[in-house]
Amino acid sequence: MQVFRKIESLQMALHLLPKTASVGFVPTMGALHEGHISLIKKSKEIATRTIVSIFVNPTQFDKAEDLENYPITIQSDLRKLQEAGCDYIFIPDVKEMYGDDVASVSYDFKELDKVMEGAHRHGHFEGVATIVLKLFEVVQPNYAFFGEKDFQQLQIIRHLVKDHDLSLEIIGVPIFREDDGLAMSSRNARLTVLHRKEAPFIFKTLQKAKRIFGTKSVKETMDWVYDQFERHPHLDLEYFSIAEEESLQPAKPEANKKDVKKKYRAFIAVYAGKIRLIDNIALY
Ligand code: PAF
Repeated sequence: MQVFRKIESLQMALHLLPKTASVGFVPTMGALHEGHISLIKKSKEIATRTIVSIFVNPTQFDKAEDLENYPITIQSDLRKLQEAGCDYIFIPDVKEMYGDDVASVSYDFKELDKVMEGAHRHGHFEGVATIVLKLFEVVQPNYAFFGEKDFQQLQIIRHLVKDHDLSLEIIGVPIFREDDGLAMSSRNARLTVLHRKEAPFIFKTLQKAKRIFGTKSVKETMDWVYDQFERHPHLDLEYFSIAEEESLQPAKPEANKKDVKKKYRAFIAVYAGKIRLIDNIALY
């Protein structure tokens, strides 16, 4: 496994690859967990070389506090990456990626960024798109892997790749969960003991909402979910939305599962104390 901190040295190594090699890329912000490892495993199945980047991207944080508290665990990350059999690791600093201009570029995501995470985290997706495009430019991968936990991010990146006519394939990887159903996230490590115990309620509610949506409308399902969280003493619901999977636009209140032409998905964001957790589930 080779570790690079500079764009130039990474690119020199990549130029030495045989023409027949294919490159799978897993961009991360570090604090790696089993969810990241599942992306790496997928890359190793499909591509002949796997590159992982670790870069805590300042432009995608809407709150300075979140950026300051983001866990940095480079040594244990490197051990996990070695064990997972990665070929190249890229760990640039902010100057290497942004120079002196640490700012996002503006993009037209159509309506994809107007809802859910985009509506609640101002400028987040512009920051994500800015760094992901910079990283694609550096790495020039054949495939890039993103977790479905950040489903809106995945759809926005698919849109970007199409819009910029990039020749790489974006591969979405299913959410990796703890045994009790909690979606793996670097933020889970920051939960208090109490909130960690309560957090699996989020996925349990999504599963029940899926069952309810089997016979009831969008509005009835949403009312039920909001009611569940109103009664919960330790978790605060930020949003619950049922949206069409491709466009991410909210489903009509009267819509239901009988509309087989639409693929609906439920999305949720919840505060467990100070920690914001997101999750989603396919409803078809
Ligand atoms: O999903 C993440 O970890 C980040 O948003 C990403 C894609 C690495 C960009 O910083």
